[in-house]
Amino acid sequence: MTRDYKFGDYAKFGIPKLDEYLGGGLDRYSENLIIGRSGIGKTILAAHWAAEGVRNGETVVYLSTTMNRKNCETYLKRFPFMKDVYDKIHWRFIRVDPKYILPVTKEKIVNGLRATFGIEGEDIDRVVFDSCTDLEKTLADPVLYRRAISIMADLSYDYEITSLWVEEAPMMGEWSDTKNIVDCVIFLDLLRVPEGYARAMRILKKYRTSHPLFWIPYDITDEGIVIKHGYYVRKSYDYEFKCD
Ligand SMILES: Nc1ncnc2c1ncn2[C@@H]1O[C@H](COP(=O)(O)OP(=O)(O)OP(=O)(O)O)[C@@H](O)[C@H]1O
Ligand SMILES: [Mg+2]
Repeated sequence: MTRDYKFGDYAKFGIPKLDEYLGGGLDRYSENLIIGRSGIGKTILAAHWAAEGVRNGETVVYLSTTMNRKNCETYLKRFPFMKDVYDKIHWRFIRVDPKYILPVTKEKIVNGLRATFGIEGEDIDRVVFDSCTDLEKTLADPVLYRRAISIMADLSYDYEITSLWVEEAPMMGEWSDTKNIVDCVIFLDLLRVPEGYARAMRILKKYRTSHPLFWIPYDITDEGIVIKHGYYVRKSYDYEFKCD
C-alpha cells in the first residue's frame, strides 16, 4: 500500500475554501511556501496545516525557530483546531546555529535533520519549517542558502515528505530564493482598501494546478484563519484586451 493510497491526493489545510482554491490542497511530496510580513498570520496558517495532517493520521513535524515550548503552548495550543491534535504534533524548537550547518553539505544537513527530528525520514509525512528566514540570515549568503534549501527539498522528495516553509517577507527589497525552488507560494499581505486595511492572501504559483489569481480575504479570529466570502481585485489596470 502506497502512501498516496493511504492519505489521498492532497495534503489539505482543513480550511475548505482555501483547499478548494488550491485545487484540493498541497500536492504530496512537494515543497510549499507561506510568505508574508511579521504578524500577518503565517504561523497560524501553517499550524492549521500541521493539525490537519494529524487529524488525517499522518506523522507531522513542526520545526520552529522563533517559538519555544512554553509560548507555543500558550499560543497555538489554545486554538480550537488544535484540540486533540496538539500533543500529537512533533514540535521541535530549535535555534539555527552556524556550527550545525556549515559547511553546507548533504551529509551535514542529513545529520542535522536526523538529530533534530529524532524520527526516521521514511516515517514522516509532513514537515513545517517556521521560519526559513532564520536559516537565511544565519547563512548570510544567497548561494549557500539556495544550496541548503535545495538539499532539503531533495531530501523531502527522497523520503516522500510534503514540506511547508514559512518565510518572513522583507519590508523592503528582494525576497529570498525560496520562492524559486518551491512548487507553491501563498503570499499573505495587508491590502489598502476604502475602509482601511484588510488581510488577504494570494496563490502566487502552484504547479500542476489552475488556481485563482485574485486576493482571498481572510480574518484571524479565536478559531484561527477564517476565509471570507468574495475576493479582491485591483481597482485599476494597465492593459485592456482589444480585438479589431
Ligand atoms: N485569537 C486571536 N484573535 C484574533 N487575532 C489573532 C488571534 N491570535 C493572533 N491573532 C492575530 O494574528 C497575528 C499573528 O499571527 P501569526 O503568529 O500567524 O503571524 P506570523 O505571520 O507568523 O508573524 P511572525 O512573522 O511574527 O512570526 C497577530 O498579530 C494578531 O493580529
Ligand atoms: Mg510566525
